[in-house]
Amino acid sequence: MMLPPHYEAVAFPNTARPRRDEGPGLLRIAWEVHNRGALQFFMDQWGAQGDLPHLRMGRHKLLLVIHPEHVREVLVTRRKAFEKQQSWEASRLLLLGDGLIASNGALWKRQRRLMSTFFTPRSIERYYPVMLAEAEETARRWEAAARAGEPIEMMDEMMRVAASVIVRSMFGTDVSDGRLHSLQGDVESMIKFTTRREMLPLKLPLWAPVRSHRSYQGARDRVHAFIREVVARRRGTPESSWPDDLLSKLMQARDAQSGEAMSDLLVHDESLGIFIAGHETTARTMSFLWYALHDNPHVAERVRAELDAVLPTDGPPTLEHIKQLGYTMRTIKEVLRLYPPSPHQPRDSHTDQVLGTQQVEAGTYVMVFPYATHRHPDFWDEPERFDPDRFLPEREEGRHSFAYYPFGAGQRICLGNSFAMLEAHILTALLAHRFTADLARGHRPRIESNGMLMVPNGMPMHVTPRREPPR
Ligand code: HEM
Repeated sequence: MMLPPHYEAVAFPNTARPRRDEGPGLLRIAWEVHNRGALQFFMDQWGAQGDLPHLRMGRHKLLLVIHPEHVREVLVTRRKAFEKQQSWEASRLLLLGDGLIASNGALWKRQRRLMSTFFTPRSIERYYPVMLAEAEETARRWEAAARAGEPIEMMDEMMRVAASVIVRSMFGTDVSDGRLHSLQGDVESMIKFTTRREMLPLKLPLWAPVRSHRSYQGARDRVHAFIREVVARRRGTPESSWPDDLLSKLMQARDAQSGEAMSDLLVHDESLGIFIAGHETTARTMSFLWYALHDNPHVAERVRAELDAVLPTDGPPTLEHIKQLGYTMRTIKEVLRLYPPSPHQPRDSHTDQVLGTQQVEAGTYVMVFPYATHRHPDFWDEPERFDPDRFLPEREEGRHSFAYYPFGAGQRICLGNSFAMLEAHILTALLAHRFTADLARGHRPRIESNGMLMVPNGMPMHVTPRREPPR
């Protein structure tokens, strides 16, 4: 990749006097984000300002953190000075509630300890049958689409399968296809509303009778009603018959000191967070994987050669088969490098401090920016080239440990990372073994960020079966 013009001027580690200059003003930011999208605007700021671009947005200062050494400081070494607070407030209030993702302090610590036992690499293997069954269900839909000669919308397809996996595995519940589809749309609207509202310099109160408020409230009511229903259904059956899933664990947990059960509200918020975080990100990863396979036929060929060599043709693959698919796994990792579903992860600076060349005042919004770090030319050769073999052990050796962090890092690292990787591995194995998928002719997905990596113009694809399903 050509270096941005000012790039080489940025030395690291930098002991120069901290800078205090202001960066572009609010109007220019609003204009450029409107024209080019936030992601491109942030990338351009990297090109223009170097590894610690800063922006002043009204009363707030925003600092983008890109260099792996700075990322380490924010997420690990100085994490107490950069916690999730004000920058997560809108997501907490409008989207996620008080569940693990946006909570802090003692509450976060207790809930994280409780829930992590459920997400160890060993314990998630029990969900293999659910993941496989949902992949099979997707394959059936794709066969029907191929017979009818109709394109599929890849993002919708992947949202559907990932949502179904999470609902069945975490909450032991089946949901009709139609309802699941409408819930996904509702979650999507809640995310969009939250991100747009955060960008507004002046915010009307939520009770103001505005169309966007009404449609957000409707979406939120439907999603919350669904979660309440799932919890109530479980409460309505004898505890002795509850399955060993995350929902039972949340409902059966007792405080070590008081012996009290978790409040219904917290069970609700934790379940809501897992529902949202547990399908949105995986679905985006999978959609970008299909795009990457289409865009890199030589990689697709190698993935399929591996699948043909390892997977049985006379029955479903076992977990042992899946574990042998090394190139397929490296391809998923490369997708997460170039298309990290959470392209930036916000924090707040609590005290005045210095990071690299920058004076970081208390109250600054700080965003670690994996979308850029994963393309940093000091750490990645030809960063824009799609090359799964970057993740061969011998090529990973010596790479900075914070050059790659699609799941975040440190204490707040994604709870569901092993779950997501297993799910992506199984879905890719089963579906890429049986189908090829090509973007509709002339369509070029436009990649943007609304807090999550997204494709506003969709990903219409034609699927073609490669082989008969096993009997
Ligand atoms: C490819 C898929 C996924 C990606 C890329 C991803 C990414 C992330 C990232 C970047 C964070 C940290 C955010 C931050 O520090 O600001 C995070 C946190 C979290 N993720 Fe994921 N995630 C994925 C799948 C999942 C799944 C499947 C689940 C649950 C089943 C899940 C549950 C969570 C939870 C609960 C947290 C909050 C952890 C905490 O703060 O202690 N994620 N995820």
